[in-house]
Amino acid sequence: MTMRKILAANFKTNHTRASTRAYVKALDEGMGAMGYEGEVYLFPPATALDRFETANDIRVGAQNAYPTVKGSFTGEIGLEQLEEFGIETVLLGHSERRHLLGESQSFIANKFAWFKERDFRIIYCIGEPLEVREEGDEAVRRYLVEQFEGIDTSYEKLILAYEPVWAIGTGKTATPELIEKTHAQIKQLCDAPLLYGGSVKPANIADILAVPGCDGALIGTASWEVESMLAMLSQVKG
Ligand code: 13P
Repeated sequence: MTMRKILAANFKTNHTRASTRAYVKALDEGMGAMGYEGEVYLFPPATALDRFETANDIRVGAQNAYPTVKGSFTGEIGLEQLEEFGIETVLLGHSERRHLLGESQSFIANKFAWFKERDFRIIYCIGEPLEVREEGDEAVRRYLVEQFEGIDTSYEKLILAYEPVWAIGTGKTATPELIEKTHAQIKQLCDAPLLYGGSVKPANIADILAVPGCDGALIGTASWEVESMLAMLSQVKG
């Protein structure tokens, strides 16, 4: 079965409410102009979440959320804040939250279960740091297995993103061979659609999407300019 590729843009801590609005408008127009029919996920910062009227399939998700409807969780947002804008997608397990913000596997698994219970689409990120990659394939496999602990790998609204930590924001992309090999390892653990992330950009996206077992891309830096995002979408084949 051939499936249209899934592209997702992670704004991280970039863009404002105003610039996100302008971005979505330009993205929607650009998708219309090129007749792009696939789905595109967009993860703006929480302050820019909103309802966007778009002609094309642009799905806005949250980069993070706390497993609560509402309550006393300073600095976090919960279901009530997401429902205001009809948000039904959440990104979980991103390495920046695991490593910079200290989210443990059990906390992430708890969030996963909570948002699964509420029928959210979940883009779940996994990926090894450099020291693990340097230990070799078996160490990587063990590391990835641990990142599936407590995760329902058969959840039908799950999309995986393999993002090797050493390739994120570094300009160092994993080679197509390495992506293929690692995606094959991951597919043995979970056969949800699997995106690659880590320094994806207009110059390498075609090669990455051509890798067997790669169902799309989760893009950080190169997604922040809408022209660059459109340049990547224009290379996606159905
Ligand atoms: P970069 O594309 O900037 O490497 O970021 C990847 C990423 O972390 C997407 O979630």
